[in-house]
Amino acid sequence: MNQSISGISGYDDFLSVAKSAARAAGDVLKEWLGKALVTEKSPGDFVTQADFASQQTIQEMIQAAFPGHDFLGEENSPGGDRPGQPIDSEFCWVVDPLDGTTNYIHQLRSFSVSIALLHRGNIVVGVVYDPLLDEMYAGSLGGGASLNDLPISVSPCQDINQSLLVCSFSTHVQEDSIELRRFTNILCHTRSSIRRLGSAALNLAYVACGRLDGYWATSLNLWDMAAGTIILTEAGGVLEHIDSKPLQLDDPQFVAANNAALLRQVSAALRG
Ligand code: IPD
Ligand code: CA
Ligand code: CA
Repeated sequence: MNQSISGISGYDDFLSVAKSAARAAGDVLKEWLGKALVTEKSPGDFVTQADFASQQTIQEMIQAAFPGHDFLGEENSPGGDRPGQPIDSEFCWVVDPLDGTTNYIHQLRSFSVSIALLHRGNIVVGVVYDPLLDEMYAGSLGGGASLNDLPISVSPCQDINQSLLVCSFSTHVQEDSIELRRFTNILCHTRSSIRRLGSAALNLAYVACGRLDGYWATSLNLWDMAAGTIILTEAGGVLEHIDSKPLQLDDPQFVAANNAALLRQVSAALRG
């Protein structure tokens, strides 16, 4: 086993299993597209047969390769929306088997598989796979970031008024909420263009490869952002907690950007 943990070099074996599992899960998602039965977990929060089938595929492959590792997948997490996450365990795989379920249900062709490995609470490996475009984003701690095995890096944009940003909203946005105020602040007081695309994992991957310049989100779970986070930081990007303190994996509200200069401008614009 080629592990950088305990002094062995590289995360290649973990990355390789993560990529294989993501590809296999992507095949499952393609098979079920347009056919999967949809149910509602809670009002406005949908899940399909494909989410479960994808997770089962990933879980079986990861547990076969690494039987001693913990596994946290969105579709079997205990405790509902924000479960106690075993992120401090020795090794824990954190998986979103289908990120962008709403897009998937509508056959809007933007969704992904997201697989991360945490080692004692630190994200060390991440892959985000778009099965329809056959785009595999990957990153590992100290090993750089890639798209289909070619190195990627963030955009050079330094000016919010020339930036393309993306954001995620919670399922039920409240009137007069801070979430809405942040959006109004940035929309009304900058000339940045803002998108909402429907897959948090892809949003981070797109900032990593320079298609987007920044991203903010306040309603995510760890499985939405863990893989994208290591891909982004390895591509040269930065993230911090939305309250301008260090990123916290147990409270994954953040601003992400291609560089510190843009991150400061986005954070300031959100504050208004
Ligand atoms: C959702 C997507 C969406 C984000 C939501 C997530 P799901 O994940 O990432 O972009 O706005 O907060 O829950 O439910 O499709 O896995
Ligand atoms: Ca998700
Ligand atoms: Ca999901």
